[in-house]
Amino acid sequence: MKRQNENPDELGLTYFFPTGQTDHVWSDEAARATPPLSKSVFLDMARAAEQTGFDALFIADSWSGHQREAERAGHQSPKYHAPLLAMGLFAATEHIGVITTMHTTHHKPAHIARMGATLDAFSGGRWGWNVVTGFGDPEAKLFGAENLVEHDERYAMAGEFVEIVRRLWSEDDPIDVHGNFYRVEGRIKAPRPVQQPHPLLVSAGGSPAGMKFAAQHCDQIVVAGNTIEKVQETSRRVDAAVHEAGRTAPLGTTPFTIVIVRDGEGEAEETYERLVRSLNEEATMELAADILGGIDSVRALFADQGHSAAARAWGSGQGILKLFGTSEQVAQQLIDLKTQTSTNNVLLNFPLWNPTELQSFAPVMDHLRDAGMWRPPSERDYSW
Ligand SMILES: Cc1cc2nc3c(=O)[nH]c(=O)nc-3n(C[C@H](O)[C@H](O)[C@H](O)COP(=O)(O)O)c2cc1C
Repeated sequence: MKRQNENPDELGLTYFFPTGQTDHVWSDEAARATPPLSKSVFLDMARAAEQTGFDALFIADSWSGHQREAERAGHQSPKYHAPLLAMGLFAATEHIGVITTMHTTHHKPAHIARMGATLDAFSGGRWGWNVVTGFGDPEAKLFGAENLVEHDERYAMAGEFVEIVRRLWSEDDPIDVHGNFYRVEGRIKAPRPVQQPHPLLVSAGGSPAGMKFAAQHCDQIVVAGNTIEKVQETSRRVDAAVHEAGRTAPLGTTPFTIVIVRDGEGEAEETYERLVRSLNEEATMELAADILGGIDSVRALFADQGHSAAARAWGSGQGILKLFGTSEQVAQQLIDLKTQTSTNNVLLNFPLWNPTELQSFAPVMDHLRDAGMWRPPSERDYSW
């Protein structure tokens, strides 16, 4: 059986894999400076992440491509379909985990059960599922629906969906489910997942319904928040949802962060300020229209601002924790985060990503190791 981390003092490090020339900080300079996405670049990045010592890669995904300027300039584009990309990355790596985003709303449980079982069996138990319910009517219309299902109902559907998928993965006898949303009879063909009792389940729901879903069904929850205090506040909401759900197992909190590590004092902050100066306003408005138009919990982060100010704030990563500085400074920020919140894993996004930029994180890992918070994945046999 594949082992999981049982040391609560150890910090998991997940690399937010490129799903576009930029994923955050929608800066034209960053889009131009990053290597154009291709098979060899994807494989180089996955290998660099593994060699540097990251535990896992997280691949975001969404369906609708209505943002023409964003697409032209490379902001959150091109987005390769996560589960397909993951198969290529598994073939080129040995031990790094790969978490793929897949939607409950637009699929049926048996699709995801088979994709997940194949990904986990093929990789020897290195696969995780970021469960999302989707956002925006354009995405729903792409699948023939009139509108996207109402927010909280999407999570009720997702709960039933995930439980069916888990049964399809684990039960040998045919199942017979006549649920409120899904009807499933039978069993899936082998392979079944390697990870027991099930592959890693992640969610990034920030709303009350999203947190309840995570508390009931997931192993990790990704949270936003641009200060340690905000992460603490969110952790308290997560703890309350866990308590409410009557759950005894911990729900690992994973703050989403932007990272720039530089040798000289102040250099990382200067780099970020420069990137923000080339923020692509039009692409930012397009992307934010989808996110701020549809996600209440993100909109709430900038509730006191008008739409265009909120779009600029979101597009420049102001809702997210920034890990900027020298390797010592970034390591200290991570140590503070670990000791002052219930964080057990961090999701790290590098706006100026390339293999060398990832390697700039290695000295941070050395500091974390000295602090007793991290061990290289090559010395252990788990990804999470
Ligand atoms: C770091 C992070 C990554 C996310 N990745 C995706 C994604 O790839 N696809 C997607 O449809 N939603 C994604 N989301 C959105 C969440 O699934 C969720 O809809 C959002 O955080 C709002 O929570 P709520 O739905 O509970 O209101 C992501 C959110 C965060 C914070």
